[in-house]
Amino acid sequence: MYIAHTIEELRGRLSASKRPAFVPTMGNLHDGHIALMKQAKPLGDATVASIFVNRLQFLPHEDFDTYPRTWDSDCEKLRAAGCDVLFAPTEKVLYPEPQTCKVHPDPALADILEGHFRPGFFIGVCTVVMKLFQCVQPRVAVFGKKDYQQLMMIRHMVRQFALPVEIVGGETFRADDGLALSSRNGYLSKDERAEAVQLSKALKAMAEAVRAGERDLAAIEARAMQSLAQRGWQPDYLVLRRRSDLQAPEAGEPLVALAAARLGNTRLIDNLEIEALPAL
Ligand code: PAF
Repeated sequence: MYIAHTIEELRGRLSASKRPAFVPTMGNLHDGHIALMKQAKPLGDATVASIFVNRLQFLPHEDFDTYPRTWDSDCEKLRAAGCDVLFAPTEKVLYPEPQTCKVHPDPALADILEGHFRPGFFIGVCTVVMKLFQCVQPRVAVFGKKDYQQLMMIRHMVRQFALPVEIVGGETFRADDGLALSSRNGYLSKDERAEAVQLSKALKAMAEAVRAGERDLAAIEARAMQSLAQRGWQPDYLVLRRRSDLQAPEAGEPLVALAAARLGNTRLIDNLEIEALPAL
């Protein structure tokens, strides 16, 4: 695996590649990231990963400084997964001057749910992804469905700017008990880790209620919020939305249940797609 710390090194190494397949990450890699790498491998002629903890997508009170940085084990995992090129720029390389030119995604998608609770988050994400795309110039890029809204935002940005890259979604990788893998799971204490599975259970309960024919979506959402709150969580949202734009669903549209909730000091997100139903 070739490690490029500068844009010049990266472009030099990829100059012969006709179809780089790219997986952007912030490091602290787990099996979910590795599954995305493996998914990317047959899609291109060179597999590229990036590790960059992007300051622009963290709010001032968030965990930018403490975000886990695990360089040696990340490199080992990427090598084992068959990664050809790792792009690991410093902040000076990616943001040599203050990044005042930013991508402002459509507020209809960027200011709801995650964007509502983390204002500016998607500006930071879209800006760094746009910049990483300029550096890597991938023909295909794989993003995890665990960050459902992020994946939708990237697809929308790529469409709107006619970027020559195909965006592929990777299924959420779960622990045996159902907890979606996330770098932030490492913040959980032993007790919190045991409790954390309740988030995916709450989503499953929402899906089951819809499948059972319950049509008062607001009541299903309120129940899910309450069930977590009663267990000591601080839920931001547990909602049922249509998959196409994450707005309130109309009859017959495929749904997705989305959740974000804080357990102790750790904020977890998860989601579950629910098949199209004949009528709401
Ligand atoms: O999903 C992530 O890890 C980050 O948001 C991303 C896409 C690497 C941008 O920093």
